[in-house]
Amino acid sequence: MSGPIILVDRDIPAGQRLLLSEGGIDAAHWPALAGRNVPALRAGDVLTRDGEPFARVESASWWPGNPSRRVWVLETLAGLRPGETAFGRERRGRALAWITLSDKGAAGLRADASGPLIEELVRAALPLGLARGFVLPDDERALRALIEDLALVQGFDLILTTGGTGVAPRDVTPEATLAVIEKRLPGFERAMTAASLVKTPFGAVSRAVAGTLGQSLVVNLPGSPKAVRECLEPLLPALGHTLDKLQGDPAECGAPA
Ligand code: MTE
Repeated sequence: MSGPIILVDRDIPAGQRLLLSEGGIDAAHWPALAGRNVPALRAGDVLTRDGEPFARVESASWWPGNPSRRVWVLETLAGLRPGETAFGRERRGRALAWITLSDKGAAGLRADASGPLIEELVRAALPLGLARGFVLPDDERALRALIEDLALVQGFDLILTTGGTGVAPRDVTPEATLAVIEKRLPGFERAMTAASLVKTPFGAVSRAVAGTLGQSLVVNLPGSPKAVRECLEPLLPALGHTLDKLQGDPAECGAPA
């Protein structure tokens, strides 16, 4: 039995975004690639040819109207020549998704500094292969759907939200998160509260939740950049180990690094 294969019908340069689907696509608007034996690729996977990377998976989804057919958006890292390319698949670094919950941000009325700060802090602590950001209004259903999609369809390792953790009428981030996570991580929540209370008594107001969904770690952070930094910094040293364990690392746990 042959391994996964991509069928390429023309020269494709590096830096191109492409759709890949098992069996091929009639795509009028997208340059498309057909595949055979394509495994369930996750966002952040790197496709290799003879050990060399040639494409990265940017996102995964279902073909509209056909829920049994999966589609991936790839970015080519090297040029592809016409013909068949057998490929391997590797994980090089973690895939991070950050989500800013802000009615004003989603309406374009406020620049978002907190989401990019999350990316900057995580990138300094963990090797990141992919990072994507989203800005949503404070809408419980939309957030639930996005977290589920990022974790279970797209396969992001880390899903970090910012905002909507307080008690204002529109603050629903913890409710959305609790509705979808499988294993709660009270230690993450306590670490954030403890670090916050050293800085401000208002740290007690955040109801930020942390937990796991599938093979993804989901953590709420409060909304301001100051609060993001204060709450995320104490968690950074534990992120890699938590993901290793969540994703099946069988090694005995020793002393922390
Ligand atoms: N935690 C830390 N570490 N630093 C802060 O400045 N701000 C608090 C709290 N947690 C804050 C913090 C404030 S003022 C509020 S209202 C709550 O987080 C909720 O914020 P959110 O609704 O933007 O998520």
